Amino acid sequence: MTRTERTSVLITGGNKGLGFETARRLGDLGWTVFLGSRDVRRGQAAADKLAAGGADVVLVQLDVTSDASVTEAVRLVREHTDQLDVLVNNAGAPGRVVPPADATADEIHGVYDTNVYGPIRVTHAFLPLLRKADNPRVVMVSSAGGSFAVVTDPEQPVSRMHELAYSSSKAALNMTTVRYAQALPEIKFNLTTPGEVANHTFVATDMNGHTGQLNVTEGTDSIVRLATLDADGPTGIFVDRLGPVAW
Ligand SMILES: NC(=O)c1ccc[n+]([C@@H]2O[C@H](COP(=O)([O-])OP(=O)(O)OC[C@H]3O[C@@H](n4cnc5c(N)ncnc54)[C@H](OP(=O)(O)O)[C@@H]3O)[C@@H](O)[C@H]2O)c1
Repeated sequence: MTRTERTSVLITGGNKGLGFETARRLGDLGWTVFLGSRDVRRGQAAADKLAAGGADVVLVQLDVTSDASVTEAVRLVREHTDQLDVLVNNAGAPGRVVPPADATADEIHGVYDTNVYGPIRVTHAFLPLLRKADNPRVVMVSSAGGSFAVVTDPEQPVSRMHELAYSSSKAALNMTTVRYAQALPEIKFNLTTPGEVANHTFVATDMNGHTGQLNVTEGTDSIVRLATLDADGPTGIFVDRLGPVAW
């Protein structure tokens, strides 16, 4: 199969964790994987591993906080294809967990730059390529912490975790995604959290010092599901691997 006949996906933060596992699973389906990594060396090591497993992978240097990097990423992807079927906005930054009283605007800005402006920057830049696809899909990797319903549920551990930057950035990402979905019905925009909200579980990755209860394959079930939606699939939904997540 030639590259133009394959389904294509760009994954931000694809060098490790959930992004890498998403790349591995979609590569296994025979897709062309544009593997985003802000660091070329880490990205190349990840791309080599995927290629050794048989994937059709193209490394794309991509720092979601940099307009120049995103512009260059579009140029590189265009060298390989004139359309993009799927964009997975996976890259994320946790920020420091500090009580709201100690949170500074500078720190919040850094987290928002990655978790909110990053997906907007990348989505906006790749819209022309997405629009050329028959069934374009954008998957936003959010968090249970971005759900008002979860954060205000006293049964949920996150309700007792006093933190401002990360959860509010993911809440902003959720609204951003809903607004995209409403305005652009020709493209599916869906959200997922990698953990299991009902079971209060999350996924063992570097982001949490590998303290999560789920592995990355379980953690990417919902990402893969949203990435592989049929043309008649939903848009504007928020799910985990078990089903819908309350807003
Ligand atoms: N693990 C969970 O249970 C869980 C739960 C809820 C939500 N999430 C979300 O899942 C996504 C993936 O996280 P993970 O758990 O797989 O963590 P991870 O292993 O720490 O991976 C984070 C990825 O994001 C990349 N990244 C950070 N800032 C970036 C930037 N400015 N530009 C490009 N890439 C950047 C990192 O690149 P470097 O290697 O260069 O740092 C890395 O590839 C995040 O959006 C996170 O918020 C995870």
